[in-house]
Amino acid sequence: MTDARLTAPGGTFQLGGDLPVHRLGYGAMQITGKGIWGEPSDRAGAVAVLRRAVELGVNFIDTADSYGPYVSEDLIREALHPYPADLVIATKGGLVRTGPDKWIPVGRPAYLRQQVEMSLRRLGIDRIDLYQLHRVDPDVPLADQVGELKALQDEGKIRHIGLSEVDSAQIEEAGRTARIVSVQNLFNLADRHHEAVLDYAERNDIAFIPWFPIATGQLAAPGSVLEDAAEKHGSSPAQLALAWLLRRSPVLLPIPGTSSVGHLEENVAAAAVELSDAEYDELSALA
Ligand SMILES: NC(=O)c1ccc[n+]([C@@H]2O[C@H](COP(=O)([O-])OP(=O)(O)OC[C@H]3O[C@@H](n4cnc5c(N)ncnc54)[C@H](OP(=O)(O)O)[C@@H]3O)[C@@H](O)[C@H]2O)c1
Repeated sequence: MTDARLTAPGGTFQLGGDLPVHRLGYGAMQITGKGIWGEPSDRAGAVAVLRRAVELGVNFIDTADSYGPYVSEDLIREALHPYPADLVIATKGGLVRTGPDKWIPVGRPAYLRQQVEMSLRRLGIDRIDLYQLHRVDPDVPLADQVGELKALQDEGKIRHIGLSEVDSAQIEEAGRTARIVSVQNLFNLADRHHEAVLDYAERNDIAFIPWFPIATGQLAAPGSVLEDAAEKHGSSPAQLALAWLLRRSPVLLPIPGTSSVGHLEENVAAAAVELSDAEYDELSALA
């Protein structure tokens, strides 16, 4: 067990105040077919990535009913059930799929309820530790969408509630219906348009889960803006992108996605990458 690689300096975050998670998690969106549709080309490889993540000390895995759809949750169960006691699986609902790369928000309460029930069944659990509204459906009052999740929480089927792709006003509005413990928005070194939401999350001790933490691989690819800095630092570009996020705010919980054990190991090792103040400032000025 190489837990030490995850504990410093990435550290832990108390999700919802009562679930300690290593800040560097794993995003399970890349273990499905192309366009996040259907089965992966290498199912055994996907299972191996999930098992290796847990072996390396990752105890925060992000997924969604819509990844596949269903494929990612099914794989998590196949690879990891019965789950380690400290493993936090965060899933999401509220997007329907009509084909590869097609995502349509549906936030009608009856649909959200069905999806929570189906995620419980697929994952093989009695309660979902973190259930995130994947998208706010503009055609349904936010209070009704979050209200249904609150009802499911009151019934013991959801432990904590989170949101995805929202602004601070929506977090406040949702917070009048239920306690919101996390927000999952697009954020990385090269795209910081949700900086105000991050500041809001930090002020309110809400976890900010940045999706596309390595810009879907662009920050790690040949020609990345991080190439020179990585060479100088003795780390890889992906590791610098993740170390920068861990350093940017204590409420950031990056969930890099990969279908490769090699990339997973490289990404997990980023939790131990230390940046000096000067290095952090240099990276911040890059993109
Ligand atoms: N809430 C939302 O709306 C939303 C939207 C998108 C994603 N998400 C969540 O966020 C997670 C992360 O997003 P993401 O997976 O799309 O993007 P990402 O983590 O920024 O990048 C993943 C891509 O980078 C590549 N990669 C990963 N590690 C690498 C490394 N060390 N070196 C080189 N390439 C590397 C992967 O390819 P390989 O497979 O070849 O490694 C993959 O193509 C998802 O898994 C999902 O859980 C949420």
